[in-house]
This record gives sequence, C-alpha cells and structure tokens, in this order.
Amino acid sequence: HLHTSRAPKMASATSAAALVESAKKAAAFQAVDEHLLPSYKFVGIGSGSTVVYVVEAIAAKGPAFYQGMTFIPTGSQSKGLIRAAGLTLCNLDERPVIDGQLVALDVAFDGADEVDADLNLIKGGGACLFQEKLVAVAAKKFVAVADYRKQSPRLCTVWKAIPVEVLPLAAPDVLKRLNAMGSPNAAVRAGLPSKAGECVTDNGMWIIDAAFPPLLLPKDLTPEIDGTGKGGAWEIKTLAEELLRIPGVVEHGLFYGYNGDDAVAFSKQAQAQKPV
Ligand code: 5RP
Repeated sequence: HLHTSRAPKMASATSAAALVESAKKAAAFQAVDEHLLPSYKFVGIGSGSTVVYVVEAIAAKGPAFYQGMTFIPTGSQSKGLIRAAGLTLCNLDERPVIDGQLVALDVAFDGADEVDADLNLIKGGGACLFQEKLVAVAAKKFVAVADYRKQSPRLCTVWKAIPVEVLPLAAPDVLKRLNAMGSPNAAVRAGLPSKAGECVTDNGMWIIDAAFPPLLLPKDLTPEIDGTGKGGAWEIKTLAEELLRIPGVVEHGLFYGYNGDDAVAFSKQAQAQKPV
C-alpha cells in the first residue's frame, strides 16, 4: 500500500514539473517567433530558467537568421547562455555609438517572477534585476516570457516579496526603513546552500526580499486609499519610487509602465496548458 500510494504522487509531481517546463518552453518559442525579426541587430537576453528556452528558440532558427545579430546579456548566467549557443556577445556599455548615442536594442527578452494584468512585473528571483532593468530600458521593445504560474491580479500575490538590491554596508539601515514602510519581515537573501553567507549579485551587492501586501493599480486608488503606504496599501509606481529614495538601495525588482506598444508578456500559450 505504501508503495502504490506513493508512486502516483511522485508521478504527478514529475508531470507537474514537466508541465511547467513545457509551458515555459512554449511561451519562449512563441515570444521569439513573434518578436525576433530578421532585421534586428541588437537583442537583449535576460536571466533565469525560462530564458534558457528563449536562447534555445533563437539557436533553433539557425545561423542564417541570427548571424547579423549581437546579443546583450543581463549578467553572468545570461552571458554563459549566449556564448554556449554560439551567438555574438556584446556588453551593454560596449555597443556601438551611432550619431553620438549608444545604439538602442531592438528588443529584450526576459523572464519574470510575477506579472499582473497591466504587464507590471516583479523580477529578481535570480538576483539579476539590476542589469535586467538596464537592458530593458535600453531596448525599444521589452518581451516578458512568463508561464501561467506567474500571472496574478495584483503584484506581491504570487511572488510576495520584492527583491531589492542593496549595498551590503547599508543593509541594516535599509532593512529598518523597509520595516517602517510596512515590510516587517524584510530579510537579506541567503546564498545558495553551496555558498555560505549572503546572496551576492553580479554587481557585488546583496538582495533584500521585502514582502508587501498586494500592490494597488492606479484604478484602485480613491481619496482615502491613495497608495502611499498608509495601512500597508502601496500603489506600484509610488512604492517603486520610494524604494529608490532609500539611501543604499541601488535598484529593485518592480518593473512597471510596460503596458504600451513597446512591451508584451508571453504567458497566453502557457495559460492554455494550465491544469484545471
Ligand atoms: C532573475 C529574474 C528572472 O527573470 C526571474 O526570476 C524568472 O526566472 P525563471 O524563468 O527561472 O522563473 O528576474 O533576476
């Protein structure tokens, strides 16, 4: 009995994991098919496990398709993916200057930890948020690739804690400020079990994960609930701006304002595969 009752559980855990992987892959291939045009020259490549499939999808298009393209990474993992696929790599600050301006990226593909209905995102689960944001804002178009698990009506529902990148020296003071802003359990992220100590980013910083109650959208605001954190009610943009005002914070994982023509989130195909 023990054996037979455990076996289906293990099988279903395996198939749930396989479903997530196929959803990530489907979203990534669809995103690349629809948003990587042959005329593009500079392409941002984000970080995380979903982006592995983005790079796979690009590689699958073959050298004739991507040989004129240069790929800009968002960190060490991303750099490794670009190199391993044999794609041309260029650091963000090394791209050519045209008419006195660093050339804009045609598109940037990246994963996300949570996506709301207005295409606001939480990013930074993989601690790469700073360079991811630099690459996102340098791109004419931002494509978020997120499977069905990441969709939510209000940010901080699924992922809960906002990753905040901080100067290590400032961490205790930043924690205090975050506590006062309504995140009593904010904590410095630990490194991988194989690496004792804190999680150190590609930029030599630490990450504080700061949980907040579900974030409000502009349409939720009223004269009484103005989104400035009273009673824990923060609106995304207000919180994003306040986080950046804390001395010692170098960046945070709230990506907002991506709901125009210049952004698209790819989770629809993955949604179709959601178990019912
Ligand atoms: C890293 C990120 C990642 O894009 C995010 O964590 C999603 O990762 P995954 O595709 O593995 O779920 O923001 O900083």
